[in-house]
Amino acid sequence: MDSVLEFLEFIEQPGHQTVRELLDRVLLKARQMTGAEAGSIFIVRKSGKQDWLVANSIQNDRIKLSKADFRIPIVPTSIAGYVASTGETVLIDDLYAIPKNVPFDFDQSFDKATGYRSRSMLTFPLTNFQQKVIGVVQLINRHSGRKKEPVAFNDKQADLILPFNHIVGRVIERADMLEQINKRNIDLRVKNRTLRQQQLQIEELNKDTESAFMVSIRLLARAAEVHDEDTGNHIIRCNEYAYLMAKKVGMPEVFCKEIHYSAQLHDIGKMSVNSAILTKRGRLDEDERFEMNQHTTYGHQILERSDRLQMAAEIARSHHEQWNGSGYPDGLKGEQIPISARILAVAESMTRCARSAPTNRPSATKRRTKFSPWETTAWTRRRISSRGCLKSLRPITKNSTRSASVWKISAYRPALSGIVFRKSKCGLAGRQWDAGRLGFGAAVEAQQGKRLVFQT
Ligand SMILES: [Fe+2]
Repeated sequence: MDSVLEFLEFIEQPGHQTVRELLDRVLLKARQMTGAEAGSIFIVRKSGKQDWLVANSIQNDRIKLSKADFRIPIVPTSIAGYVASTGETVLIDDLYAIPKNVPFDFDQSFDKATGYRSRSMLTFPLTNFQQKVIGVVQLINRHSGRKKEPVAFNDKQADLILPFNHIVGRVIERADMLEQINKRNIDLRVKNRTLRQQQLQIEELNKDTESAFMVSIRLLARAAEVHDEDTGNHIIRCNEYAYLMAKKVGMPEVFCKEIHYSAQLHDIGKMSVNSAILTKRGRLDEDERFEMNQHTTYGHQILERSDRLQMAAEIARSHHEQWNGSGYPDGLKGEQIPISARILAVAESMTRCARSAPTNRPSATKRRTKFSPWETTAWTRRRISSRGCLKSLRPITKNSTRSASVWKISAYRPALSGIVFRKSKCGLAGRQWDAGRLGFGAAVEAQQGKRLVFQT
């Protein structure tokens, strides 16, 4: 019992020793207790379907050894493999005279390569709590007294060493498990870091893809407006007005975001209309008007193939429908008209209005026939200044009240088309922004109040 305690004290001394350090200490102590001049410890490791004995510690007082980095399969034809597969302890007096009636033999390649002469050997298993072999210890060439030549191991050494092979096995298994867990934790941390980096890369790629998508549809929309004198500003205003109106009527955020880029494509079908008709000055005859009106169905046909442009397709088809059913191409009436198309119709009309002379703006009667009641309310609350710009717009909601805390929209100087959005409660009305200095679509939050400035 004393020897067991001594052994355990010896191997447990250092604090956070690695498995390899622990095995080195175990082997050293086992050699000291038995008088072995050399030895090695193997740990069982699984690799694929095969179990292996992996050398973790090798020591030899006679020759200098390199680091243990070899393994042998667990098969009974080798001594260590036999002990690992059977759990038996094997004592061999002379490794070069192993009887033929045992399944294992001694591999002399190490001796031949180093000139060392292995003679006697004690090989025993290390087992865990479940008595499963987790490793094998080989002690080689026992020295006793003053004899120069190695002598055989006997039952005395086996009895000395075997009582604590279970304890050692458990200590080793615990240390091994901790090391494996730490290694896995490190691997997991590395994988998590790699995963985060990949997620960031994917986000960047998604941003690039999204950006490319937006640029593509902006260019597409501009291509459709190539005959328009407003050179693209019209479609940008449509986007901004449609988005704002969708927000104000309480549409879901997903809808608002979608209409924010879909609105500009409403006239995409004009790309399929004869340019002579598009650029003709004066009234169109009946055939020309028919062809012009076809831009709604052409636009729908172009856009409906894309999953992301379903709303755009819907708007393209229905943005010339009228509340009273007198529109085209389907003669939809009232709420049969998709709300996206109704919002766009108002936004588009406001956009045209903002850049046209006051006399060209739709009359109250026309607004009533063209738009839904709440849309008309939006119009009646809008006052157009004598300079031809939007002055203010109350919230466009079915249940809006005068006392509601709402956003006002005011605009000034159509040439710059700067629009200042501000909360009516903050009482900071009247301040004008030099929107001309701001980039397209720029949104700038002011220091005072919450003003958002858009250049359209
Ligand atoms: Fe149109």
